[in-house]
Amino acid sequence: MASIRTYNSAIRITIILLLLKDALGMVPAVYVFGDSLADVGNNNHLQLSLLKANYPHNGVDYPGRKATGRFSNGKNFADFLAQNLGVETSPPYLSLPSKSNNTSVYLTGVNFASGGAGILNTTNSGACIWFDQQIDYYSAVYGVIVQQLGTTQAQDHLSKSVFAIVIGSNELLNYAKSNSASKASPQQFVDSLIPTLQGQLKRIYNLGARKFVFIGTGPIGCCPALREQNKTKECNAEGNSASVLYNKAVSSLLNEMRTQYSDMSYSFLDTSIVLNQYIQQPSAYGFTEVKSACCGLGDLKAKVACLPVSTYCSNRSSHIFWDFYHPTEATARMVVATAFDGSAPSVYPVNILQLAS
Ligand SMILES: *[C@@H]1O[C@H](CO)[C@@H](O)[C@H](O)[C@H]1NC(C)=O
Ligand SMILES: *[C@@H]1O[C@H](CO)[C@@H](O)[C@H](O)[C@H]1NC(C)=O
Ligand SMILES: *[C@@H]1O[C@H](CO)[C@@H](O)[C@H](O)[C@H]1NC(C)=O
Ligand SMILES: *[C@@H]1O[C@H](CO)[C@@H](O)[C@H](O)[C@H]1NC(C)=O
Ligand SMILES: *[C@@H]1O[C@H](CO)[C@@H](O)[C@H](O)[C@H]1NC(C)=O
Repeated sequence: MASIRTYNSAIRITIILLLLKDALGMVPAVYVFGDSLADVGNNNHLQLSLLKANYPHNGVDYPGRKATGRFSNGKNFADFLAQNLGVETSPPYLSLPSKSNNTSVYLTGVNFASGGAGILNTTNSGACIWFDQQIDYYSAVYGVIVQQLGTTQAQDHLSKSVFAIVIGSNELLNYAKSNSASKASPQQFVDSLIPTLQGQLKRIYNLGARKFVFIGTGPIGCCPALREQNKTKECNAEGNSASVLYNKAVSSLLNEMRTQYSDMSYSFLDTSIVLNQYIQQPSAYGFTEVKSACCGLGDLKAKVACLPVSTYCSNRSSHIFWDFYHPTEATARMVVATAFDGSAPSVYPVNILQLAS
C-alpha cells in the first residue's frame, strides 16, 4: 500500500512540475535552424566534417568547462533565446534517437542548426547540414508530430511555438573573402540569395510555423578574420555593406510573407545595427577589445582558429569576439536580450517578448 501511495504521489508531483514548467515557459517549444551561431552540437555527429567545436578552448566558460560543439567560450544564440523564453535549450536533432516515434522528444523543441551552413546547398557542401536539409529533417519531425497528435492539435502546438532562423553569415563571409575580378556588387550578391531563402521560409510556414524569429547578419567585415586582412585593421567594407543589404532584403521578404499569410508573425533582429553599437561605443557595453579575437594565434588572433594549441584571453566578457568568426557568450547574451525586449531599428516589427505573448 505504502509503496503504491508513494508511487502515486511521485506521479502527482511529476505532473505538477510539468504544469509549472509549462506555466513558466512562454512558448511550448523552440525549433532552431541555422549556422554555427546557433549550433548546439549537431556537427559533432558529422563524421567527415572539420567544422567542429567540440574541443578546447571552446566551452571554457560553459558549465563544467565542457566543449559541447558550440562555437563559443560558453552559451550561444540558441541558449539565450531559450533562456529568455523560459524553456530548456532545444537539443541537437542528430543527438536524438533516429526515426523516433516518441513525440515527446520533439514537442519541447529541436535544434537543426549546423556550423558552416548557408542558404545555398553549395556553401560548405559536405561539411554541414545545409538549410534545405535542415528543413527536410524538420519535415520528418512534423510528420511524426501530426501522426501522433492529429492535424488540429499539431497545428495548435506548432502555431504557438517559436521558429528561430540564423542564416546568411557564411555566404556573406565567402563573398567578402573573395578576390575574384568578376565579383558581383554587394546588392547583386544579396539579390542572388533571396529567392532561395524565400522558398525555404515558405516551406517552413507550410510545415506549421507561424511565429518566426530571424536573426540577421552582423557586420561581417568586422570579424577578426576579415579585419586582419586589411592593412589598416579596419573592417572590410564590402562585407559590411553586403550585410546591411542582406538584412534589408530579409526584412522586406518577411514583411511580404506577413502580407500574404495573415496568421504569420515575426521578429527580425538587425544584428549589424546592434553589433555596430558595441564596436563604436565598447565601454558603454562593457567591452574593452573590439578588434582582436579572444582565442586564436597571430595578428588579432585571427590567423589560426581556436584550437587546443591557441591561446585565449583571461577575461572573455571584455571581448566582442571569441574566435576569428564568432562572438563571445557575453556578446550573444546582450544581442539576444535586445532581440527579446528591444525596439526598432534593432528589432522589429515586434520583439520576441511581444511575438511570444
Ligand atoms: C514509427 O511509426 C511508423 C508508423 O506507425 C512505423 O512504420 C515505424 O516503423 C515506426 N518507427 C519506429 C522507429 O518505431
Ligand atoms: C519519450 O521521450 C521522453 C522525453 O525524452 C522520455 O522521458 C520518455 O521516457 C520516452 N518514452 C519512451 C516510450 O521512450
Ligand atoms: C538542395 O537540396 C535539396 C534537398 O535537401 C534539394 O531539394 C534541392 O534541389 C537542392 N538544391 C540545389 C540547387 O541543388
Ligand atoms: C580597409 O580599411 C579602410 C579604412 O581604413 C577601408 O577604407 C577599406 O575599404 C578597407 N579595405 C577593404 C578591403 O575593405
Ligand atoms: C572582465 O571584463 C568585464 C567587462 O569588461 C568587467 O566588468 C570585469 O570587471 C572584468 N573582470 C576582471 C576580473 O577583470
